[in-house]
Amino acid sequence: MACRLTTQQGGKIKDLTGKFIVFEGLDATGKSTQVKHLAKLLQRRGLTVVTTREPGGTPLGEAIRRILLDNENHLLTPLSELLLFVASRHQLTKEVIQPALQAGKTVISSRYTMSSLVYQGYGRGIDLDLIQQLNAVATTGLQPDFLFLIDVTLAVAINRMIRLSKHGERRDRIETEDIAFYERVQRGYREAASKERGVYIIDGELPEMRIAEQVAAHLDFC
Ligand code: TYD
Repeated sequence: MACRLTTQQGGKIKDLTGKFIVFEGLDATGKSTQVKHLAKLLQRRGLTVVTTREPGGTPLGEAIRRILLDNENHLLTPLSELLLFVASRHQLTKEVIQPALQAGKTVISSRYTMSSLVYQGYGRGIDLDLIQQLNAVATTGLQPDFLFLIDVTLAVAINRMIRLSKHGERRDRIETEDIAFYERVQRGYREAASKERGVYIIDGELPEMRIAEQVAAHLDFC
């Protein structure tokens, strides 16, 4: 299907006012780029869009993000790590996501509850039920209306992370985990996506604009 993201008019439009859209995927899969493309598209169609990311998205959440990603914090236990991600998520839900949705805005987030399930659950081995419970409490049960999983092979993800670090981007505390960790995370994403209803999986090895088109097409935006 030909879809022109630059087109300003036309097409059937799904009502995305007050809807919550999430992008998930391994590190360096281009989630934040897709958040930007989608936000631009929706804004051009007159929607008021709020973009955010996890961990972070609020002043407190960004402070928590710095703790979580700081390589100095190698003593952080898996449970402390989980609780910090969940605290950041609760703050974001209460301060940003819920008020924006209630005001009829469209919220787009890079990462949400599925990240904790796969990184802390599959990756670190924390009980999945405990994570689901904490996620439910932190978000007061708020789930995305649309969830896009940008799926790449492990080799591609690892290569992209290596390339980024060669370009001077320092690898953060989580990105310095070994390949076995990322194998578990990768498996986690695929399992979680198959279990959860309504997850739309996109081939993350497609060119950036093709991914953006698939997202738009899934939302009936072209
Ligand atoms: P992010 O900045 O989105 O990394 P990237 O842009 O490379 O995908 O996320 C930071 C790191 O935090 C990333 O390695 C994934 C990890 N993470 C968790 O382990 N659990 C979580 O609940 C979240 C939200 C992120």
